[in-house]
Amino acid sequence: MADRSDDQQGWGARYDAVLDAANVHARAWLSGVGERSIPPGIVPDEVADRLGRALSDDGEPPVEVIEHLVTAAEPGLIASGSPRFFGWVIGGTQPVALAADWLVSAWDQNSGLSTISPTAAAVEAVAGEWLVDLLGLPAGSEVGFTTGATMAQFTSMAAARDEVLRRVGWDVETAGMSGAPRIRFIVGEERHATVDLAGRYLGLGSPIVVPSDAQGRIRVDELSATLAAGDGPAIVLLQAGNIHSGAFDDFTAAIAVAHQAGAWVHVDGAFGLWAAASPALRHLTAGMADADSWSTDAHKTLSVPYDCGIAIVRDGTAMHRALSMQASYLQTAEAGADPHEKVPELSRRSRGIPTWAVLRSLGRNGVARLVDGLAEAARGIADGVGALPGVEVLNEVVFTQVCIALSDDTQTEALSARLWSDGEVLAMTSRWHDRAVVRFSVSNWGTDAAQVRRTIDAVARARASVVST
Ligand SMILES: Cc1ncc(COP(=O)(O)O)c(C=O)c1O
Repeated sequence: MADRSDDQQGWGARYDAVLDAANVHARAWLSGVGERSIPPGIVPDEVADRLGRALSDDGEPPVEVIEHLVTAAEPGLIASGSPRFFGWVIGGTQPVALAADWLVSAWDQNSGLSTISPTAAAVEAVAGEWLVDLLGLPAGSEVGFTTGATMAQFTSMAAARDEVLRRVGWDVETAGMSGAPRIRFIVGEERHATVDLAGRYLGLGSPIVVPSDAQGRIRVDELSATLAAGDGPAIVLLQAGNIHSGAFDDFTAAIAVAHQAGAWVHVDGAFGLWAAASPALRHLTAGMADADSWSTDAHKTLSVPYDCGIAIVRDGTAMHRALSMQASYLQTAEAGADPHEKVPELSRRSRGIPTWAVLRSLGRNGVARLVDGLAEAARGIADGVGALPGVEVLNEVVFTQVCIALSDDTQTEALSARLWSDGEVLAMTSRWHDRAVVRFSVSNWGTDAAQVRRTIDAVARARASVVST
């Protein structure tokens, strides 16, 4: 119960001190993120001990909670916003996106219905139209904002599943999946693992796997043979941006054979879809717009804070059929006008707002420069690191991914471990084509020529410490 002094201060004033404290700590973190050691310094158990495991009976004042959180939590944070962070595909945040995201939390809009938040609905609609245009996708495609690319794949593939079954007379919305005709769910050998996850969530079972070529692109001759070997409903998954090589499938040829067989084609472009926004790199996505649905992340290339994935579906009716619902107590707009009809959730935060803010801030040319800058940095890292003795660049560097190896797996793993312990550069070990590799995923808008130089120098030092010559 508030006391009289709270009443006199007014409602808003109750937020002041705690938001000021958070603001100070956020700015301190951001101003140091480029220079601190990148890996976390402690493990989850230690963080939990520092946080304190017992729930108090009487609580603690908000400012003290924030001070305690920061002190306990910071050693367990990874500096993924560093311009020398190349682990996985995790981007930093653009200042305008972070500021907009703070407002999203302050405004606390439930974005499911346009009657509840006209602003959330309008911002998503505008940002969605901009995205479709920037990525060169068919005008009028529907856009849903999800937690990430995994759920964006799920969302698009829900539309795909229901539509391919509807075409053979099976109504998933009423009949469910038990006894439904089997859908041939066809993927490339080097698809991202979350593609399988989305298929599992949708009851598609294990995918039919088609061999890939040396860069991880689906082999179109094999895809064609796989499609010809069966019949019935089919969903084909293609990829814009392989996590090891950055390679893009041959969309023109693959989509032609898939459509000839009546399949729905979905493109997983968690980071690669953005190549379409760059006049210099757009050729990598040639033919991609002929697919039926696409998924990507704004929290990768576009540098909005976690989380934001984007599902895009050409046939809005199929998307609404699979995802929308009605309830008498909800004042829904006309069919297709409510954001919840394009995503799995009803209630959710206004994820479109930070995306809108970055797009508004960068404009068309700024997005192209952002994407070009990432690819240019990857090229610089590949050239510089590849010139070091004994370092082999294993992929054709066409986009933002660089995979390197030393002469044997033990040395390669030692290089990655050394980089981790040095803390100046973070690049992760993986296995690609039966070989240990160190993978650089360039995803941070701040990775400029100076950061590329520092990265090459750090790799040179690490290499010298694990290799004798
Ligand atoms: C090609 C690809 N697809 C899908 C995903 C999954 O994205 P998210 O982690 O945002 O769900 C990733 C993540 O790195 C990816 O690189």
